[in-house]
Amino acid sequence: MNGPHMITLSKAKRLEVSGLGKSYGTLSILSNLTLTVEPGAFICIVGPSGVGKTTLLRCLSGLAAPSEGSVSVGGIVITEPQAEIGLVFQDYRGSLMPWMRTLENVAFPLEGRGVPKAERNRIALACLADVGLENAAESYPWQLSGGMQQRVAIARALAYDAHILLMDEPFGSLDAQTRLGLEDLVLALRKRLKISVIVVTHDIDEAVYLADRVVVLAGKPATVVDCVDIDLGYDRDQIRTKSDPRFVEYRNRVLGQIMA
Ligand SMILES: Nc1ncnc2c1ncn2[C@@H]1O[C@H](COP(=O)(O)OP(=O)(O)O)[C@@H](O)[C@H]1O
Ligand SMILES: [Mg+2]
Repeated sequence: MNGPHMITLSKAKRLEVSGLGKSYGTLSILSNLTLTVEPGAFICIVGPSGVGKTTLLRCLSGLAAPSEGSVSVGGIVITEPQAEIGLVFQDYRGSLMPWMRTLENVAFPLEGRGVPKAERNRIALACLADVGLENAAESYPWQLSGGMQQRVAIARALAYDAHILLMDEPFGSLDAQTRLGLEDLVLALRKRLKISVIVVTHDIDEAVYLADRVVVLAGKPATVVDCVDIDLGYDRDQIRTKSDPRFVEYRNRVLGQIMA
């Protein structure tokens, strides 16, 4: 299955960033960013540490207000966090409630929406199954590995009906093997659930491996310096994809932009 099919079947709405700027006081962090994320697309945003990646994700999620320009979803400008936009943070340690079991952690946000308990638990269990954790429903977060905690955070976003998943360096604090496994999990989720995914990372190999399009941020204030369409097919494989000569070409192009 390829691009166009995926787009028609996606439940996600188009996300549009238009002339976005963000300043803190007189310090301008982001300037004139324009970007469209088509339904079902997988976008990676790369840039060096401190360039403004987290600031951009906060604007995309509705947590922070842009100083200039706008972010819209399905043509409607967003001014606050939206249920259909899920955010997964870099540091899984602070993201789950330690006193709640895994199932409750995933089900809990639905309570605020007035979903009855049995239905909350049913949804939470289905989303835990989506990330391969149906057997960890009764465990507490501290009984789970870092990779498992990050999967719980993803399940929670899915339970809340996120069709656009924003992830801030989501695999940065995990060991290499866990990291590769989670990359493949997120690719599989995007394929099965037809969601849009936007991953921010400073890891260029990871970005090229995951994305349909890599957006490169650089400068002070940061702008989009390059957008690279990654034509490596819809199904990726850690060994096959990463040894494709085109993979190396894409990676070198992105690396060149960041080192420039
Ligand atoms: N709330 C804030 N107030 C002032 N400056 C901030 C704030 N948040 C981030 N910054 C500054 O914005 C810049 C970009 O930060 P950030 O978005 O976290 O970068 P990245 O995620 O790419 O490492 C940094 O220089 C940081 O110090
Ligand atoms: Mg950051």
